[in-house]
Amino acid sequence: MRSSAEDLAQYPPLWHLSEEGALAEWIGLAADQVVITAGSTSGIFALVNSLQSRRPVVVLGPTFWAYRQAVELADRDVVLISRPTADLAKPWSEEEIAQAISQTRPAALFLCSPNNPTGNLVAGDVIGALCDRFPETKIVVDQTYLPFRSDWTEMRLPSPGSHANLVGLISLSKFYCLPGLRLGLAAFGDAEEAWRFRNRLGPLRISSLGARLVSDLVNDVEYRDRTWATIVEAGIDLVSCVSDVGVALTPLPTAAPFRLFRIDKPDMDADMLANRLLKEARMRITSCSVYGLDRHIRIMAGLPKDNRRLSLALRAIIDN
Ligand SMILES: Cc1ncc(COP(=O)(O)O)c(C=O)c1O
Repeated sequence: MRSSAEDLAQYPPLWHLSEEGALAEWIGLAADQVVITAGSTSGIFALVNSLQSRRPVVVLGPTFWAYRQAVELADRDVVLISRPTADLAKPWSEEEIAQAISQTRPAALFLCSPNNPTGNLVAGDVIGALCDRFPETKIVVDQTYLPFRSDWTEMRLPSPGSHANLVGLISLSKFYCLPGLRLGLAAFGDAEEAWRFRNRLGPLRISSLGARLVSDLVNDVEYRDRTWATIVEAGIDLVSCVSDVGVALTPLPTAAPFRLFRIDKPDMDADMLANRLLKEARMRITSCSVYGLDRHIRIMAGLPKDNRRLSLALRAIIDN
């Protein structure tokens, strides 16, 4: 990566076609279905701005902030449909999403799968069925956390020959731990849609450093396999550490590399816990109050010794 810094003195290729080819191969699509973006966030904002219809946009929550903000900044109506807290562990069903679309007839629906922060995954066949049922609605599936799953090849969307109204977003920020590099992609069921989107975004969308690295990253099979092996074990270990030390936290099921925990102590909320953990133990967890979940924290699993240290620190705070 250090030697690639020399590339910064040069412009990247104007239209990033070979980088899009590498990404397309990575996700098993044709090169003309994939548009490289400066991360998923820029893909989200650009997709909202590219919507032709002024009908509202539905966002299924609680979820990542950017969908709602992109819609609001584009001066469009957003309809946020959120799962009740008691049902957070339940993935959206086809009928629930169909009802949301039928009631609103939106220009687009954004859903995150696996979802940040709940970790829920909506099955590909559910999304395919919704695309068939609602061809007038663009279905955008943010799969930023999907590459963490070793079974992701069967789950990534769109798949070849997929629906014209389906767009998938994938980021390299999380899986490769490179959020500063700003690399992501939008994958379209319809190559013409991809072509329009690419033209709308224009040339020079990523840096020459990003352009240089993208193919090496997605072809780094050793890194990928090592990450898959450790991430699953880390997640299992975190749950058993929390249970072993007897801390008053309930883990929710997850399909993501992180997990939600409900705080079971009535006088402790998520902000309080996260702030005290940072101050007293210098450890960071995410309070989900920003998602409207003031009794839930989100934890990224770590190495066994870190999971244990974190669980003990959480117990010390919750017990006092
Ligand atoms: C669901 C989701 N999508 C996208 C992003 C941002 O990805 P990127 O760095 O590619 O913009 C995040 C970051 O937290 C996220 O949680």
